[in-house]
Amino acid sequence: MRTVPLNLSQAPYDIQIGRGLLTRADLILPLLPQKQVAIVCNDTVAPLYLDALRAVLEAEGVRCHSIILPDGEGFKTWETLNLIFDGLLANRCERKTTLIALGGGVIGDMTGFAAAVYQRGAPFIQIPTTLLAQVDSSVGGKTAINHPLGKNMIGAFYQPRLVLADLATLDTLPQREFSAGMAEVIKYGLIDDLDFFEWLETHVDRLMERDADALAFAVERCCRNKARVVAQDERETAGVRELLNLGHTFGHAIEAGMGYGVWLHGEAVAAGMVLAALASRELGQMGTADVDRIKALLTKAGLPVVAPALGAERYLALMAGDKKVDDGRIRYILMRRLGESYAGELSSDVVTRALESGCE
Ligand code: NAD
Ligand code: GLY
Repeated sequence: MRTVPLNLSQAPYDIQIGRGLLTRADLILPLLPQKQVAIVCNDTVAPLYLDALRAVLEAEGVRCHSIILPDGEGFKTWETLNLIFDGLLANRCERKTTLIALGGGVIGDMTGFAAAVYQRGAPFIQIPTTLLAQVDSSVGGKTAINHPLGKNMIGAFYQPRLVLADLATLDTLPQREFSAGMAEVIKYGLIDDLDFFEWLETHVDRLMERDADALAFAVERCCRNKARVVAQDERETAGVRELLNLGHTFGHAIEAGMGYGVWLHGEAVAAGMVLAALASRELGQMGTADVDRIKALLTKAGLPVVAPALGAERYLALMAGDKKVDDGRIRYILMRRLGESYAGELSSDVVTRALESGCE
């Protein structure tokens, strides 16, 4: 087992990474203020992993309630969130009842938001079961639901007490979902870790075969990078955490513009990172050879490198409604070179030219 500490001043916690952690009740029990939990899951993950988790907790005398939501980004909504509250209230869950998110980023984001507001804040544990959730969404306390007019628009910062990343759960992840997670993995290399980007160029085939050692190394590296950033800038106010949004300004526009769930989040981030690289090239900062290296790595990871042709006007309108807009100005994460990113603004001419070269 590998442990990555997240050193927040108020409530530090650990990210535990390894195979078989789902049944390590000993890691969960010390963090429960009462022997009652509500496990939030979806109808795809529940048949795979819910019984195993319940069994080890119930063997220790923990009362477990299960709340099973419909699967999909299209259900990351207010209506589905309310199903969590229905389940908590119907089972008389108290404010010391721990909410456990068992699933991918959609379940993690929704459960975290529910925990943030249920009786003004209930304890929360993340058990991420997708690559994307293990390297990104379960770490750092961003929780949210979507609104028809914008991605992740309603939410809260709310930290879990523990992240338990069981690498064995990735064995059942469909290949398209695994690739989507690889987008966020590659993102960490591009943001500020050239060594990792180059490691990925060499080891991407092993990762795509889900080689256990390569996966453990990559998940730990991503979590360490994210933990460092979040510890410096928990609420994205110090200009550090926003770098984690590389590819996301364009990516969120793709997700919303195509309809949530049509492009997976990771796929949209992949095409969004290529657009960010093309915009950086338009600014004279990044050469074509580096843009090609990014595209080659994403392609080997099974990800799209060409964005959908929504039209520049539509992209700009969608991006103008993004959370990252500051005083009406759209913020982009751009690259000075591979492994060095920064936040800035772009003229609509540069955006339009990047879209002309990066869209189908
Ligand atoms: P997801 O939660 O929709 O999971 C992907 C699919 O895999 C789903 O169909 C799910 O049921 C299935 N699945 C999950 N685990 C499985 C397993 N072990 N075996 C088989 N199937 C499994 O999507 P995701 O990619 O995990 O997360 C995407 C979401 O995360 C988006 O909503 C995005 O906005 C959010 N996100 C949040 C943050 C954050 O910081 N909070 C960061 C990145 C992404
Ligand atoms: N996924 C972006 C962040 O956690 O800040």
